[in-house]
Amino acid sequence: MRITSFEQYKEVYQESIANPENFWSDIASHFIWKKKWDKVLEWNFDEPKIEWFKGATVNITENIFEKNLPQYENKNAIIWEPNDPKQKNITLTYKELFEKVCQFANGLKSIGIKKGDRVCIYLPMIPELAIAVLACARIGAIHSVVFAGFSANSLSDRIQDAEAKLVITADGLNRGAKEVSLKTIVDEALKICPSVKYTIIFPCLAWEVNFKENHDLWWNDVIKNQNNYCPAEEMDSEDILFILYTSGSTGKPKGVVHTCGGYMVYTAYTFLNVYQYEKDDIYWCTADIGWITGHSYIIYGPLLNAATSVMFEGVPTFPDASRFWQIVDKYKVNQFLTAPTALRSLMAYGEDYVKKQDLSSLKILGTVGEPINAEAWHWYHDVIGKGKCPIVDNWWQTETGGIMITGIGSFSPLKPTFAGYPLPGIEPVLLTPEVKEIQEHDVEGYLCIKSPWPAILRSTYGDHERCRLTYFSHYNGYYFTGDGAKRDENGMYRIIGRIDDVINVSGHRFGTAEIENAINENELVIESAVVGYPHPIKGQSIYAFVVCEHDVLDEFIASKSILETVTKEIGKIALPEKILFVSALPKTRSGKIMRRILRKIAEGDIANLGDTSTLLDPAVVTEIVGKAF
Ligand code: PRX
Repeated sequence: MRITSFEQYKEVYQESIANPENFWSDIASHFIWKKKWDKVLEWNFDEPKIEWFKGATVNITENIFEKNLPQYENKNAIIWEPNDPKQKNITLTYKELFEKVCQFANGLKSIGIKKGDRVCIYLPMIPELAIAVLACARIGAIHSVVFAGFSANSLSDRIQDAEAKLVITADGLNRGAKEVSLKTIVDEALKICPSVKYTIIFPCLAWEVNFKENHDLWWNDVIKNQNNYCPAEEMDSEDILFILYTSGSTGKPKGVVHTCGGYMVYTAYTFLNVYQYEKDDIYWCTADIGWITGHSYIIYGPLLNAATSVMFEGVPTFPDASRFWQIVDKYKVNQFLTAPTALRSLMAYGEDYVKKQDLSSLKILGTVGEPINAEAWHWYHDVIGKGKCPIVDNWWQTETGGIMITGIGSFSPLKPTFAGYPLPGIEPVLLTPEVKEIQEHDVEGYLCIKSPWPAILRSTYGDHERCRLTYFSHYNGYYFTGDGAKRDENGMYRIIGRIDDVINVSGHRFGTAEIENAINENELVIESAVVGYPHPIKGQSIYAFVVCEHDVLDEFIASKSILETVTKEIGKIALPEKILFVSALPKTRSGKIMRRILRKIAEGDIANLGDTSTLLDPAVVTEIVGKAF
């Protein structure tokens, strides 16, 4: 499975595109299947219907445990580093993790959770989060992890959409200096979630909780007297492994569906190659398991490769800005993966926080989640990697399941701010608005993918048509990524950013409509329009133009009230950085909001507002510009 040179990559890439079925069946043959496939791939992008390893049965956890235990039972699978450096860390060997997963899996079965049931996991970054995810996979229950920064309303939306039977949470969490009572948020969310039979609570902080008899269960009671072996459920390759909710340009977040066989093969293959993991390496991805990066590259990809995966509960700047580098030094981390936003925020604290730590163990540095600017790239390369570590810039999405365009190990060419080359099996194309493939190099276009790879999303949970409309209908016959990209003269890709109404704040995705809907819930508000604008640390930030019922007498109080509403509807992670109260929004005669103009105003680029003559009332723009500056 391992590619070891750039020349080999080029050969393998050609083969993978010329004959994808042979290519992926060779890779898949390295895994334990309970039953082999009848057909490697069947697909069309019209419905869409995509089936990998058709007819095969498998359990992803057998490929983490049964496959790896004979050689690696005493090797650390997870090293958990707590939020507070004074607290003790936890290590779990493959054997220990397996036993904990099995015990919890048996506990889940004992309360009636079975194959196909949806389980919502709303936990801090503690080992139990990984254990809960793997226990679901062991028994074929579908996990839906919700990032523990989302509000009760967001949580209940996700629980209801998936009709989850069980919620797994904790009493509370510590993140940096903050404490959050998760159980209180879950109680609030569950007021309108009739599908949920039980809530399992892990006692993370030994807090008292409002314990509801016949509904709430303590984690320790669920695992009490449970056997530490649980047989692996036989899953069809195309059975759902998990749902993960993500934001798009319209409406509520959708549940991206990933299935068992293809996701397993793809995350394992991409992890091994991109990070060139060697047997004794220590690998650390700083993401949260609430997002796709944590699913694919903290849990599944690394553990399928018998890697040691570091899991960190805290934030980069607590207790101070040396925290990441202390952890690298403490565990002698070899491969390190983080987000540009974290790098930019640490960069702002200066090099003193880096200098005291020994970072010589680092071999490969990864970046993911948003475009990396040249300054952050050079800081990462020079100050963290001391000029010796290649940077692999991983472009991918919740929907793609795994890395798509990237540098590979230490041998592919580096070019700051360019993600790199497509991985084997990935056929990116740049399209014109007229749906023509741009063949030349040194061009820009809409980034689409021409053929399926094993970890492509299969559906959006409960609404397949939404999947078709969102990803497969804009450009007939292609998977549409929502991103714009540039290809240079050597065929290297640079991701420019979203071309749809999606804003990427600190690597987190939000739809403008999603935030507008939240703002409009506020009783003062008639309507609003939200756009993204560049932010030096977060990448992008949210700018809200708001029209209120009456003249707002006190803008400070009104802003505060709107921020509270957004916190309640989505969570603090989606708060607008700027709110501007206006008397009307710029609209075309057909009533469409002219976001292009608002974006220019938010960016401060008023010299280039473009033609405003088609607006219903061009004077609105003059008023907004006058208020904004
Ligand atoms: O715009 C791209 C950006 O993040 C989007 C996907 O977000 P999400 O599904 O939350 O997944 C994030 C982690 C994989 C993409 O459409 N994005 C992701 N990685 C990069 C990126 N933009 C530029 N460079 C990247 N490496």
